[in-house]
Amino acid sequence: MNLADRVEVRFASGSDMSWLREMEIGKDDPQGREMLELHVRMDQVILAVLEGRTIGCLRFELLWSKLPFVSLLFIRPDEYQGQGVGRRMLGFLEDSLRQRGYRSLMSSAQTDNPRSQAWHRKMGFHEIGILYDINTDGTGEVFLLKQLAPQDG
Ligand SMILES: CC(C)(COP(=O)(O)OP(=O)(O)OC[C@H]1O[C@@H](n2cnc3c(N)ncnc32)[C@H](O)[C@@H]1OP(=O)(O)O)[C@@H](O)C(=O)NCCC(=O)NCCS
Repeated sequence: MNLADRVEVRFASGSDMSWLREMEIGKDDPQGREMLELHVRMDQVILAVLEGRTIGCLRFELLWSKLPFVSLLFIRPDEYQGQGVGRRMLGFLEDSLRQRGYRSLMSSAQTDNPRSQAWHRKMGFHEIGILYDINTDGTGEVFLLKQLAPQDG
C-alpha cells in the first residue's frame, strides 16, 4: 500500500495541541496560540497521521469571513513529500468545504518557492496576483485560486 493510502487524514483536536506547538505554528503572532486553538475548535486545521506520527499539517482561515484561504501547508519530514499526502490533505479540505457550501479556495506561495507554486498549479489552482514585499524576510507572495466543482452524485 502506498504512503498516501496508509495515512489517516483528519481534523486536529485538542489532543494535537502539543504537536502543533512543537511545530511552533503561530509562534511569531501576538495572538498565535489563541488563534491556533480557535482554528482547531473550528475544524480549520487538518493533519496527516502515519501510524500515530503526524507528518502533515494544513491550516486554513476565512478571508473576509467567507473565502477559505490555505494559510499553512507542509509535509514533514521531507522524505514524505511527493508521495501524494499533500494531494490527499487538499482533497479532504475540498470535500469538507463543498459540504459547508464553499465554491472556491484560495492559497498562496512565496515568490521564492517555485516548487510550491508549481504544486498548486498541478492541483488546479491558477495565479491571481502577487503581493510584493509582504513577508518579514522581504519576499513576495503569489496568490492562487481554485474553483471547487460540485461533487458527482
Ligand atoms: C508542497 C507540499 C505540501 C506538497 O505535498 P506533497 O505531498 O509533497 O505533494 P503530492 O505528492 O501530494 O503531489 C501531488 C502531485 O503533484 C506533483 N508535484 C509534487 N511537487 C510538485 C512540484 N513542485 N511541481 C509540480 N508537481 C509537483 C506530484 O508528483 C503529484 O503528481 P502525481 O499525482 O501526478 O504523481 C509538500 O511538498 C511540502 O511540504 N513542501 C514543503 C513546504 C511547502 O513548500 N509548503 C507549501 C507552502 S504554501
